[in-house]
Amino acid sequence: MRFSVDQYQQVVRPVAVDDLDLDHAFAERRLAEPVLRCLRYMHDVELHTVCYLRDLLVTSAHRDPEITTFLTMWVYEEYWHGGALARVLRAHGEQAGRPRIERVRRSRRIAEAVAPLKHMLGSAIAGPSMAAVHMTWGAINEWTTQAGYARLAAKADHPALTELLRRIMKQEGRHIDFYASQAAARLTGDGRARRLTRFALRKAWRPVGSDVMPAEEVDHLVGFLFGDDEGRVMLERIDRRIDRLPGLADLRLVSGAADRRAA
Ligand SMILES: [Fe+2]
Ligand SMILES: [Fe+2]
Repeated sequence: MRFSVDQYQQVVRPVAVDDLDLDHAFAERRLAEPVLRCLRYMHDVELHTVCYLRDLLVTSAHRDPEITTFLTMWVYEEYWHGGALARVLRAHGEQAGRPRIERVRRSRRIAEAVAPLKHMLGSAIAGPSMAAVHMTWGAINEWTTQAGYARLAAKADHPALTELLRRIMKQEGRHIDFYASQAAARLTGDGRARRLTRFALRKAWRPVGSDVMPAEEVDHLVGFLFGDDEGRVMLERIDRRIDRLPGLADLRLVSGAADRRAA
């Protein structure tokens, strides 16, 4: 079924947090340090979404009003995912939200200045097929993000966190529906888009947040969430979904990335 942006914009809202009484829930039982470390990563990356949006808008993707309408809603929901995770971190006495993000941004001044130029140039060289790359990239990042939250909920086994992550995952599911349906539509019947997407994924795809977070944090996140049997099963399931997109069979993209991180 085709994703309806009109329907989506009716249901967009900040993920609900107030009824969860997070301060009390985590005062009673704190999360373990490896879980908090993943949450810091996810907080930083969710709140980086607006910078990914900036990079997308300098490409040909901005010409499609269906895409720009979706992105407007998407960035809002991702912002509130970051806000919700900030509440969890604050409940553990940690700095979160804008003061933490200010530090992340300051440390990336040059990279962030260059990123839109790279995207603009890539889009100019690749032409309209570049939108297929971005939509496929988005689908894979949303699939892996949702899987990451599922794994984190299972690992932490904390009722308040499980409920919060369940709500976030539900919204990530709508993001998946948009990106995956866009990717399938754009790859179908466009050989150039298929070749370009396959090439770009093989050359440049890395786990979500790899471009923002230090390598040791990426290693911890991937190892902690996906290093065991259940984690591997989830990655293989995502690889099968990627395989089913036109022209992307047998990439072993996300399992392969986890293998390289574990090596
Ligand atoms: Fe999110
Ligand atoms: Fe998302």
